[in-house]
Amino acid sequence: MAAAGGSGPIGPYPERVGEGDEERVEYDKLRRRVLWTMPYGLYAVGSRAGERRNLMTTNWVTQVSFDPKLIGIGVEKPALTHELIVEGQVFSLNTIARDDRAIVRKFTKPCEWDAAASTLNGFAVHDGATGAPILDQAPAFVDCEVRQAVDLGGHTFFIGEVVDVGFQGPEDTEVLRMEDTRMNYGG
Ligand SMILES: Cc1cc2nc3c(=O)[nH]c(=O)nc-3n(C[C@H](O)[C@H](O)[C@H](O)COP(=O)(O)O)c2cc1C
Repeated sequence: MAAAGGSGPIGPYPERVGEGDEERVEYDKLRRRVLWTMPYGLYAVGSRAGERRNLMTTNWVTQVSFDPKLIGIGVEKPALTHELIVEGQVFSLNTIARDDRAIVRKFTKPCEWDAAASTLNGFAVHDGATGAPILDQAPAFVDCEVRQAVDLGGHTFFIGEVVDVGFQGPEDTEVLRMEDTRMNYGG
C-alpha cells in the first residue's frame, strides 16, 4: 500500500533532467524511491476537538528540541486529524507494538467514535491529560500541546510540547517501524 501524494511530477529538477515530460516523470519516480529509503517510525496520532476524536497512522514524526521538549508531526491538510489539531491544539502520539502491525491499516480514514464504549474503530481509547485520545494498547504514549504550526503546502508541521508521557506495557516492547510494513508514505 502506497499512500503517496499528488499525480503529476513535482519540481524542482536538477540541470541534467531535460524539460520533456518523460524525463521529468522518471526523475520524479527516482526521487520518490530515494526518499522512501529514509527510515521512519510508525505511530497512531490521536487528535481531539470538543467531542470529536480521531486516530491516524503517521510516520512523519520526530522530536525536534530537548529544552523545551518538542515533537513535530507532518499532517495532510485534508485529513480530519488536521482539522481537529487546528481546532483542539493538542495531539497524542501512540507507539505501536511490532506484533500489532495490522492496526496501522485501521487508522487511515476518519475513525468511528463510540462514546459509550470509548472506542475508535473498535479500539479502546481513553482521554490523555490534554484530552487527546490515547490508545489503550499502545506500549507508550506522548501527549502534546501545540506550540507552533508551520504551513508547508500540502501538509502542516505541528510542533507540540510534551506535557505527559507514559508506558502502558513493558518498557522493552519492540515498537513498529515503517520498515516492518510494506507501506510507503510521501516520497
Ligand atoms: C504507512 C502510512 C503512513 C502515513 N503517514 C502519514 C503522515 O505522516 N502524515 C499524514 O498526514 N498522513 C499520513 N498517512 C495518511 C493518513 O494515515 C490518512 O490516510 C489520512 O491522512 C487521513 O487521515 P484522517 O483520518 O485524519 O482523515 C499515512 C498513511 C500510511 C498508510
